[in-house]
Amino acid sequence: MSKTSFCIANWKMNKTIQEATDYIEKINKMDLSKSSAKMIICPSYTNLNDLIRYENKINKITFGAQNVSSENKGSFTGEVSISMLESIGCSWVIIGHSERRLIMQEKDSEIARKIELVYNSTLNPILCIGETSAENKNGETHKVLERQINTAFEYLDFENNKEILIAYEPIWAIGTGTAADRKSIESNIKIIKNIINNINTKNCNIYLLYGGSVDENNASDIFSIDDVNGFLIGTSSLDVERFYDIYRQI
Ligand code: PGA
Repeated sequence: MSKTSFCIANWKMNKTIQEATDYIEKINKMDLSKSSAKMIICPSYTNLNDLIRYENKINKITFGAQNVSSENKGSFTGEVSISMLESIGCSWVIIGHSERRLIMQEKDSEIARKIELVYNSTLNPILCIGETSAENKNGETHKVLERQINTAFEYLDFENNKEILIAYEPIWAIGTGTAADRKSIESNIKIIKNIINNINTKNCNIYLLYGGSVDENNASDIFSIDDVNGFLIGTSSLDVERFYDIYRQI
């Protein structure tokens, strides 16, 4: 397959610095020429700075943060700003993951401000969107995806030359061990594509990814869906062999 592809590990709140460096050292010994996918690893903030130093040694891997503050600086205890991420050479940042939307009550308006900050920085965003199980059952998926995309891009003029990744992650498939079925991924990716086609994205390249229980057994089938340009992977990315197995299939 020759489509542009991305294989993203979202480690969430897992791995100490020792575990993280062991993982990177292991992956450094693997044959990364087996795939043309861009590998992006998103560790915790505490591991990010150290791991980014490996970037020069393993030029196929870049690193991303799992979140960024919607504020530039100031009295926001526990938050990390976009300029802090820029200052350590971080390349990507995940915005609006469903765990942040649901557990941390992150609002669409906050996500729009984060996307704007990332857009005006040296980083590129990985925007997560997706419907809950109830929204899916009520036939609200289209409406939800449209709202999430349109509000996230509210402040962008798309003049900057950016890669914007949008991960479609149906919330009911995340961390369950069962990915969404091929038919629903196909139809929802098509919906997202149509929403994007109605936006004048000018100088930005937008790629769509799938996330939600991707593993070594379903990866190549899901990757064969039109306009799926890769994956955002949680559970299966925690084990280096499993993550590599997915990577070499795309
Ligand atoms: P999962 O997580 O692969 O464990 O389903 C995906 C995600 O939350 O991004």
